[in-house]
Amino acid sequence: MSGFRLGKSLVIAIDGPSGSGKSSVSREVARRFRAAYLDTGAMYRAVTLHCLATGVDLEDRAAVEAAARSLDLFVSTSPDRESVTVDGADVTAAIREPGVSASVSAVATTLGARAELIRRQRALIAGAGHRIVAEGRDITTVVAPDAEVRILLTASEEARLRRRGDQLGGTQSEAQLKRQVTDRDARDSTVVDFRQAADGVVTLDSSDLDFEQTVAAVVRIVRTVAN
Ligand code: DC
Repeated sequence: MSGFRLGKSLVIAIDGPSGSGKSSVSREVARRFRAAYLDTGAMYRAVTLHCLATGVDLEDRAAVEAAARSLDLFVSTSPDRESVTVDGADVTAAIREPGVSASVSAVATTLGARAELIRRQRALIAGAGHRIVAEGRDITTVVAPDAEVRILLTASEEARLRRRGDQLGGTQSEAQLKRQVTDRDARDSTVVDFRQAADGVVTLDSSDLDFEQTVAAVVRIVRTVAN
């Protein structure tokens, strides 16, 4: 599998709501195809953390856009090394804190900040030689609509709440999880539609699939669609 489409472009775009299993599945699919991996949500989170840490008012759209534009941001594109830095400081763990999850929609719904991050995401995809799994909310539709493979990974609300809860080690109450998953998706989907598959995008429902089965299903789709 690692030699699949070597020397040719293989951009695998995966969108979906929070808790759909996108990140872990995308990372593993990248390993199997010896491709790079881009977590675009990490970039929205890094801008959010920076704004919170430096006192940028998240309601001030111009200020949020300016922060996104000037941010010294590094995101690893290796599926084997999760690393995000801002101004050289490691924020890999900090961007996953519930406080960031609770505020990140303010950045995600600031169109000027989106435009800047989309530009950086396209540059990272090009920098990886167009052999990459990129995941987020608008990869199949906006960032890489010409990707060889475009998948919308969905799961029932119940499965998504359970997965996000497990991911956070059972530290969150049901109400907190609902705020971080369901309410956040509702806010985010006012600017990007990641609930309905666009034309040409394959929907994969992982509600009844375990991790291995979901990876295998994505691999099958890639091999079928990009052959
Ligand atoms: O996938 P995640 O939970 O780490 O994403 C964090 C936030 O970033 C989420 O609230 C939606 C937003 N996001 C986005 O708007 N577009 C993307 N391509 C990726 C994430």
